[in-house]
Amino acid sequence: MTENPITSGRVAGKVALVTGGASGIGRATAELFVREGARVAVADIAEDAVRRVAAELAGPDAPTLAFTLDVTSETAWENAVAAILDQWGRLDILVNNAGISFGKPLTDTTLDEWRRVTAVNLDGVFLGIKHGGAAMRRTGGGSIVNVSSASGIKPAPGAAAYCASKAGVRMLTRTAALELAPDGIRVNSVSPSGVVTPMWESMPFFAEMTAQLGSAEAVWAMLSKDVPLKRFAEAEEIALGILYLASDESRFVTATDLPLDGGYTA
Ligand SMILES: NC(=O)c1ccc[n+]([C@@H]2O[C@H](COP(=O)([O-])OP(=O)(O)OC[C@H]3O[C@@H](n4cnc5c(N)ncnc54)[C@H](O)[C@@H]3O)[C@@H](O)[C@H]2O)c1
Repeated sequence: MTENPITSGRVAGKVALVTGGASGIGRATAELFVREGARVAVADIAEDAVRRVAAELAGPDAPTLAFTLDVTSETAWENAVAAILDQWGRLDILVNNAGISFGKPLTDTTLDEWRRVTAVNLDGVFLGIKHGGAAMRRTGGGSIVNVSSASGIKPAPGAAAYCASKAGVRMLTRTAALELAPDGIRVNSVSPSGVVTPMWESMPFFAEMTAQLGSAEAVWAMLSKDVPLKRFAEAEEIALGILYLASDESRFVTATDLPLDGGYTA
């Protein structure tokens, strides 16, 4: 993450849980939350990485927790939320960020592949809202931020399962917001366009394009041709949008989606 002067305690005293916190946007968000005064539980399916990141982010006045959490496992959610309440007594912020990419023509996609993508990207958010929301209800309210995608707004041919899962996150967000508003729980989503994170390296077409064009930077530039600001975002730029929705600065904001996309979905 680049040097950033913001240290104004925008989430001071709050307890936050960030899923997919070991990498990319989740890591940048956890790091920003720590810097802004929150106690952060970092959760990820990647056991070693999540331990390492939580340890790296912790400071003398900034305790962190690490959880190995597969967002598709209801038991894992129950255990993680119970452990946070046990340790810190409350949950104020939940960022449902964990997600996987997937690209394949629709007619070649197997039902198992479809189910895996929707399980992580949509079921995982449902389980987070269910268990995180229940904890927040008990401890006086909070803010849930779900990470959707510009691909949940604008269709991307060859990524139907991903697009459908991310569109589902946006509607789930709005519905949950109406249900949970009486409990003082706000629910919003963010929809980034392309962001420089390790997620891209897991996509076979990205490796092929990198070999053709000579560098990842060249691929990101090419993939940004339809983005008015003509570039990919840095993970921290998405974290800043999440921070706004997580903090009390957005206390009158619920049931909305914040596109963080350089104008891509305009
Ligand atoms: N990178 C982009 O261009 C982009 C654009 C729009 C939206 N997003 C979304 O942002 C979110 C974060 O993506 P990223 O780019 O930082 O990716 P990333 O691959 O860098 O990080 C994702 C993290 O989620 C974790 N994860 C995967 N499956 C999990 C599971 N079942 N349970 C718990 N953790 C799991 C991974 O281990 C990883 O640490 C995702 O929801 C993604 O769809 C990314």
